[in-house]
Amino acid sequence: MSAPPSARPRKKVADLRSQLWFSAPGAAGAHKHRRIKQAGFTAGDFVGKPVIGIVSTWSDFATCHAHLPQRIEDVKRGIWHAGGVPAVIPVQSVSESFSRPTSMIYRNFLAMEVEEAIRQHPVDGVILLGGCDKTTPGLVMGAASMDVPAIFVPAGAMSKGRWRGLTLGTGSSTWQAEADHRAGLISDAEWSELSEASTRTTGTCNTMGTASTMTSLVDAMGLSLPGASSIPAVDAEHVRMCSNAGRRIVEMVWEDLRVSDVLTAPAFRNAVVADMALSGSTNSLIHLVAMAGRLGHGVTLDWFSEASESVPVICNVMPAGRYLMEDFHFAGGIRALLGVISAHLDLSTTTVTGRTLGAEIAGARVFDDDVIRSLDNPVYPTGALVVLKGSLAPRGAILKRSAAGQNLLQHTGPALVFRNFADLKARIDDPDLDVTPDSVLVLQDSGPVGAPGMPEWGMLPIPKKLLAAGIRDMVRISDARMSGTSYGTCILHVCPESRVGGPLALVRDGDPIRLDTAGRRLDLLVDEAELARRRENWIAPEPHYGRGYGALFSDHVMQADEGCDFDFLARPGRIAEPEIH
Ligand code: FES
Repeated sequence: MSAPPSARPRKKVADLRSQLWFSAPGAAGAHKHRRIKQAGFTAGDFVGKPVIGIVSTWSDFATCHAHLPQRIEDVKRGIWHAGGVPAVIPVQSVSESFSRPTSMIYRNFLAMEVEEAIRQHPVDGVILLGGCDKTTPGLVMGAASMDVPAIFVPAGAMSKGRWRGLTLGTGSSTWQAEADHRAGLISDAEWSELSEASTRTTGTCNTMGTASTMTSLVDAMGLSLPGASSIPAVDAEHVRMCSNAGRRIVEMVWEDLRVSDVLTAPAFRNAVVADMALSGSTNSLIHLVAMAGRLGHGVTLDWFSEASESVPVICNVMPAGRYLMEDFHFAGGIRALLGVISAHLDLSTTTVTGRTLGAEIAGARVFDDDVIRSLDNPVYPTGALVVLKGSLAPRGAILKRSAAGQNLLQHTGPALVFRNFADLKARIDDPDLDVTPDSVLVLQDSGPVGAPGMPEWGMLPIPKKLLAAGIRDMVRISDARMSGTSYGTCILHVCPESRVGGPLALVRDGDPIRLDTAGRRLDLLVDEAELARRRENWIAPEPHYGRGYGALFSDHVMQADEGCDFDFLARPGRIAEPEIH
């Protein structure tokens, strides 16, 4: 076990990882110097200085990262000023908007790529540049497995959408408008105008969706410069934050302050607590469990259950609230929010500044107490998320109760089953669909292995004929995920999933299902003998992939309660440094 960071001696030049490459004796070192000179550097430029990899998830398809090429230059400026040497390492962007079949399938791919990109290159520390939903956990998982000094630099949220006097939040406002469009309440032209107005600038989605949740939680755990997560993407403060991160990472290398010093078990506990107060995305459970697994911290769904009962939602940001990330930032941001819930946090955790979380949030103020509420005046009286267990979800399922219809939290109704997403699309708007507002819509075969990749199909559309009758919410159940910007009484991540034979696969039309949110239960009210008969006749569907990354994914992905990491990656431990030839 290594010494605590504060007691660790400062690194010497000979200790720098990059020196394995640049000070290698004989032909090996000479070859590295020759190649560095090819790029216009002198040999000395890379000797004796911390080399900082800027791991960037920019691509033209990651439109919410469109400003990252400039931010890379801002980070580089800070690194040069502090006496380090920057080196950009592009990794895949995992664009939430363009990745198919689902971005989730590529989170682990990104995590593997980040880990191996750090391992194979002569870097002493890394800046992790991302923010779109899967990029944050993917970058952090990879860096955690390499356990080098690292700072996560969030891309920042886009500016608020504006349309005809309305303020629009990415995702949340468009989902509502889309339902109105399907119900014929707004025209094609209005729908198109509104969609365009909702994404005015570069930057990540500006609601408390998965992107903002994950950047906020990584900030709360101390892996970003404190308060960085809410700085708007287009703000000059964002530019300064980037160059400051560049300065700081060089010093972190000399201090040997690594990811494992920051992302400790108490830091994850803090993240879970903050998640409840933020009304974070349901996806955060999967990502936090996966990130923690890389460092050997056993974060379980029970952590979320416990926190959910003691910490109310105080962040009044869409989809559970009414404001957006920009408002959250100017109300004080994550530091102010953590200050309000400080009694529930471990303030002794270490941040990338080398100071404790307590020191970093001391003096943080709330400047708008409608955006960041007090504990006495919460947005929602309990934590946002509730973990349900029962005969339909033996290993758990998730409901974001703060974004659900409060009249549906206790509900029993007959199942209306869709075998898969294609079946859902084909039948949901059929005028003859046998559905009432009391029906429980069930979507099968949409889990980690099933879909594959557990897409964000969990906010099943309300059947058109019920929309026309004014119905906007129903109980919906699936083994899929849901966008963090979505809302409704959607029970997600049912585990084990139907594709591997979980009870969800056995549900038939008309089966009564009981949702008991107060009792944290989800039950299929069918007798065990009948379920045993169905189980016996159940035939596992054919795998989606016979080869390639898809086959690797299906063979090794773990279930939602285990974070959907790959079984061979979800463990701590170091791999020996490569030999330099
Ligand atoms: Fe990238 Fe929402 S699409 S953050």
